Amino acid sequence: MQAQLRPESTATKDAPAAFDPLSMEVRRCPHPHYAELNRRPVQPVAGHPNFYLVSGHDTVSEVLMDPETYDGQPFPGQDVPIMSAMRPEPHKRLRGAIQALFTNQALSQLTPHIETQVRRRTDALLAAGQGDAMALWANPIPLSVIARLFGFPEGEADLARLHRYGDAAIRLVIPLGGPGLPAPRGLAVRWRQLRGLLAALPPVLRLMRRLPAHERKALFNFPNPMAELAGYPRTGFPHHPELARLIIEFQLEVLGIFRAHLDRPRNEVVDALLPPYRRGELSLVEILSSALQILVAGYETTANTLGAALHRFALEPERLRELQAAPEKIEGFIEELLRIDAPLQRTLRRTTRALTLAGVALPENAQLILMLGAANLDAARFDCPERFDPIRTNARRHLAFGRGIHMCIGAQLARLEARLALAELVPRLQAVELLADDPPQRVIDKDIGMWGYTRLPLRLIERRLP
Ligand code: HEM
Repeated sequence: MQAQLRPESTATKDAPAAFDPLSMEVRRCPHPHYAELNRRPVQPVAGHPNFYLVSGHDTVSEVLMDPETYDGQPFPGQDVPIMSAMRPEPHKRLRGAIQALFTNQALSQLTPHIETQVRRRTDALLAAGQGDAMALWANPIPLSVIARLFGFPEGEADLARLHRYGDAAIRLVIPLGGPGLPAPRGLAVRWRQLRGLLAALPPVLRLMRRLPAHERKALFNFPNPMAELAGYPRTGFPHHPELARLIIEFQLEVLGIFRAHLDRPRNEVVDALLPPYRRGELSLVEILSSALQILVAGYETTANTLGAALHRFALEPERLRELQAAPEKIEGFIEELLRIDAPLQRTLRRTTRALTLAGVALPENAQLILMLGAANLDAARFDCPERFDPIRTNARRHLAFGRGIHMCIGAQLARLEARLALAELVPRLQAVELLADDPPQRVIDKDIGMWGYTRLPLRLIERRLP
């Protein structure tokens, strides 16, 4: 009883936060913790030695803007070849090459495809009238865009396969949002893990055979998925060994597509990678790892933004009316959605030396959980931060896309998708309602701090235009 009466702010300066990124309570809804986290921007995480929570808009920005001091590579001495983890120098070259997929020209090339997709998916959503809006609308739109980006086939079965690849990658990658769950133990578990590795072996061998000899070694520049290093993040492999095979199968498909484009360019978006590859600025393994990174970073995040828009209309119907009366407000609405419902609530950095951050001494190699979602609700940056205010003038200062050298490369594409999707849906919608007996189900089983939906059951009433 006494504990309940204690005000939130009485935590002492050195006491760990009550915020455990792995707890079910936090996974279901982290937001109630944010005001307290922002008041104490750096604090150790209870139960997870060497992990620190970093909150507050200024402090999170400071870390993101200094990649030399705060490295994206979680493990010292190991350069995982994933763009969002890379050190400044290799990152600059790789990002410069991959940027070819996100130029204004590439976005213009993608726009008719996105328009066709949003029309088709909105027709299906409204025709259904009731159902899981993620499966019917929010998931297929960004999935088809990523398929188009890489020249992936776009039939429904192909998109379902791409969805499985994306889901597997998110579950397996180093949990970029925190420590990750401890590995399960026992003989049966070990046996399952061994079977997972054995199942991945044939596609690994096929992939190796199709890569030039000098590139093969780079494929294995990942931490041992079975090893656990105390105080460092854990991979999802021990929990999902059977998914490892899917990552390699995805890469095999991407390699096959890229090789076909090398032989016969088709003036598609993926062809933009041919010149940097031919100039030697991009290796095949880097193309494969970037494709995986783009799938992980660009699919569910965008889908959850679309889902959050529909959920918002159900909770605050006046928002739908406002956008119908003034469609030019859609952009501000999207920025405010990204601020309040940041699809990636956290990301990870490692200190490269002992230092003091926001008055707290941190050792070298400390793992910092950057609370993007909390920074977006910092009262020192945003007035009445919990209030959804689509005409907030500084909403774009949110950190939903990060900041600094790793700032989201797909931010403009995500904004474009959301803008086109809402421009299609809003005028055609009379009302959106939650279903009393079938509430939205939040993503609670992916450790990277994803804020979104596994299911979003809704009733949608179509607007009859005169
Ligand atoms: C609303 C949708 C999206 C959100 C909220 C989002 C969020 C983020 C964030 C927070 C980062 C920085 C992570 C860090 O610094 O640790 C990031 C990086 C990245 N995002 Fe996004 N993203 C979205 C959409 C996309 C899309 C559509 C794509 C591509 C199709 C994409 C591709 C990437 C890539 C490749 C990176 C790594 C960039 C680098 O390290 O230079 N993202 N994203």
